[in-house]
Amino acid sequence: MIQIENLCKTYINKKKGITTKKEAVINLNFECKPGKIFGLLGPNGAGKTTTLRCISTLIKPTSGSIKVNGYDILKDEKKVRSIIGFLTSDMKLDGYFTPNYMLDYFGKLNKMDLENIKQRKEELFSELEMEDFIDIKIDKLSSGMKQKTALAISLIHNPDIIVFDEPTSGLDVITAKNVTDFLRKSANEDKTVIISTHTMSVAEKLCDEIGILIEGELKELGTLSEILSKNKADNLEDVFFKYLA
Ligand SMILES: Nc1ncnc2c1ncn2[C@@H]1O[C@H](COP(=O)(O)OP(=O)(O)OP(=O)(O)O)[C@@H](O)[C@H]1O
Ligand SMILES: [Mg+2]
Repeated sequence: MIQIENLCKTYINKKKGITTKKEAVINLNFECKPGKIFGLLGPNGAGKTTTLRCISTLIKPTSGSIKVNGYDILKDEKKVRSIIGFLTSDMKLDGYFTPNYMLDYFGKLNKMDLENIKQRKEELFSELEMEDFIDIKIDKLSSGMKQKTALAISLIHNPDIIVFDEPTSGLDVITAKNVTDFLRKSANEDKTVIISTHTMSVAEKLCDEIGILIEGELKELGTLSEILSKNKADNLEDVFFKYLA
């Protein structure tokens, strides 16, 4: 469960004595429930990554509160980190190592014992269909294979909460389906899943609840059918363009 109340994030940058402010996220309120996939949908610059980084404790909110399984992201930062799997779009993988090695490394970093790491690797390699490339150096992998490796790393400790920033971006339809099937399976295991996307079809097909974020503000919140009927629209694209017009 993720509970977000009155979340605001303003970036303040000082350059050559000039201070600039950017209100990236303004007063967000929503919940992500266990067993459900929540989709944060919005155009470039809407504040999706900012919101997911706040949930994952990578940046601190300017104001507001976030609780993850009841733990406050500011007071219980370590605990929150231990139960979250966070995938970021800009995760850098060291090209010299193999997926197999990287998962061992991150498993140990998460204080997992060797048997546990071995079991979890087998699960992830099979579910994400990675077996063919686990022993090939990351440098030599395609971008989809690298993306799967990043996904597997973020999930090695079998987190209860899955926070994925643009998990299907840049993936072909087969690889993307592999990833979305995995997310559905995780939700069916009662995990809490939140993803960001700017792809309408991903939100429509995959997400149980959708939040439409435009210029830092949550303009719509609900199930697909709730959002469509409220807006008398046939698809999310129509709703989306209503706000961008
Ligand atoms: N470190 C930062 N300093 C200043 N402004 C920032 C910083 N990071 C993000 N921003 C600004 O905050 C706003 C929201 O950015 P964010 O990355 O959260 O958007 P996004 O919805 O993830 O976009 P995209 O779809 O392009 O990934 C943008 O205007 C961006 O320029
Ligand atoms: Mg982003």
